[in-house]
Amino acid sequence: MTQSSHAFVILAAGKGSRMLSDRPKVLHQVGSLPLLGHALRSTEPLNPARLIVVAGHGAEAVEAATARLAPAARTVRQTEQLGTAHAVDQARDLLADFDGDVTVLYGDTPFIRTETLERMNAARQDGADVVILGFDTPDPGRYGRLMITDGDRLHRIVEFKDASPEERAVTLCNSGVVMAPAALLFDLIAQVGNANASEEYYLTDIVGLANDRGLTCRAVTCDPAETLGINTRAELAGAEAVFQAARRAELMAAGVTLTAPETVFLSADTRIDPDCVIEPNVVFGPGVTLAPNVTIRSFSHLEGATVASGAVVGPYARLRPGARLSEDTRVGNFVEVKNADLARGVKVNHLSYIGDAEIGPASNIGAGTITCNYDGFLKHKTSIGSEVFIGSNTMLVAPVSIGDGANTGSGSVITRDVPEGALAIARARQDNKPGLATRLRDMLRQKKAALAAEKQE
Ligand code: UD1
Ligand code: MG
Repeated sequence: MTQSSHAFVILAAGKGSRMLSDRPKVLHQVGSLPLLGHALRSTEPLNPARLIVVAGHGAEAVEAATARLAPAARTVRQTEQLGTAHAVDQARDLLADFDGDVTVLYGDTPFIRTETLERMNAARQDGADVVILGFDTPDPGRYGRLMITDGDRLHRIVEFKDASPEERAVTLCNSGVVMAPAALLFDLIAQVGNANASEEYYLTDIVGLANDRGLTCRAVTCDPAETLGINTRAELAGAEAVFQAARRAELMAAGVTLTAPETVFLSADTRIDPDCVIEPNVVFGPGVTLAPNVTIRSFSHLEGATVASGAVVGPYARLRPGARLSEDTRVGNFVEVKNADLARGVKVNHLSYIGDAEIGPASNIGAGTITCNYDGFLKHKTSIGSEVFIGSNTMLVAPVSIGDGANTGSGSVITRDVPEGALAIARARQDNKPGLATRLRDMLRQKKAALAAEKQE
């Protein structure tokens, strides 16, 4: 498809009543991305000339999400849901001067593949005036049925509610995806009425209307899995499972080791390079990028993090947004890193919180170290130089900086900057009282014996 030839209209006005949700259906997520985001993404490789989202229920939220997910997209509102043809009609003005093709997608159908849209386009190039995406299934349920005649010509689409028993026996179903030249599409839509079982303006009626004009309609078919639409929470979970299985398979095919693939959860934008090893039970939230040769050990949770080659993370690590780990870093068990740059070779191996920080190359952060970054109102930064040794259980009260090659004594509460090469000790001085422990123990033992004797009397 060329740069200027294609516009997309994504229908997203429906309520999604069966989700039982305050949130518009198209904003429920699969792979940490709203369903609408999946539909928008499927158009990306085709360089859409125009992208229009039809919002209705929860329009404000859908409009805000559209602006975030696809800044180039426009939105229109369908205030009353009078049917799919009426929904597409809302984009008429925005496409009045558009002379390319329009493809209609549904916002709640996240898995249509770009290649499938390419095949529909090929059918258009081949001379079909209207191209419909269909799928054949042994279990056609309540889908609209495609009536094929004269070899491969699509004659009509019959909605389930309006279909005769013979028509219901047809297993070739309508996915909802339609491709047609803009002018023809809106011309046909203008002719659609609502004299049917649902009293709705059916987009599917354009096929019969086009045939009446002697135009050619064809169906391109795809795997039913692609046309999976989401109407319930159970279908959402089913879609999540399908999505996860596909992404895991893609990663493994691209050279990533997933020890127990079914326990690794990915986001739509997760990027993992070859030769990474992902141990069991790892969750990738949005925005994670792993360079080659990274190991993520079991039970780790990553989100908004960038990890360079040779790093080992976990087990039981949490990388939060803005965690940037350079080559050969180590982030071990029960360590949380947020908005922090860890330079090459930094080790934070145990039980630490590193937030709003910068740590220079080859520094070692002892167990139990906390960057105290928040004073209840503002966040403050901790800067740690190169080859620094932070003793176990150091509290770094930000804003604070530790110079190159400095050490902190274990258990220190560091509130002032530490110069380069200095050893900072900020804890109560130790005082040994000779024999006091033995005397104390004797005293307590006698007290316990006296109490026991009293009880017996
Ligand atoms: C539609 C098709 C049917 C097809 C099925 C595939 C029509 C008349 N029927 O039926 O042939 O097999 O999809 O899933 O097109 N929407 C709006 N505004 C409206 C109505 C719908 O934005 O006024 C949106 C919905 O939010 C949804 C999509 O359009 O994303 C489809 O609408 P839906 O009501 O689910 O249509 P179906 O009855 O499933
Ligand atoms: Mg539907």
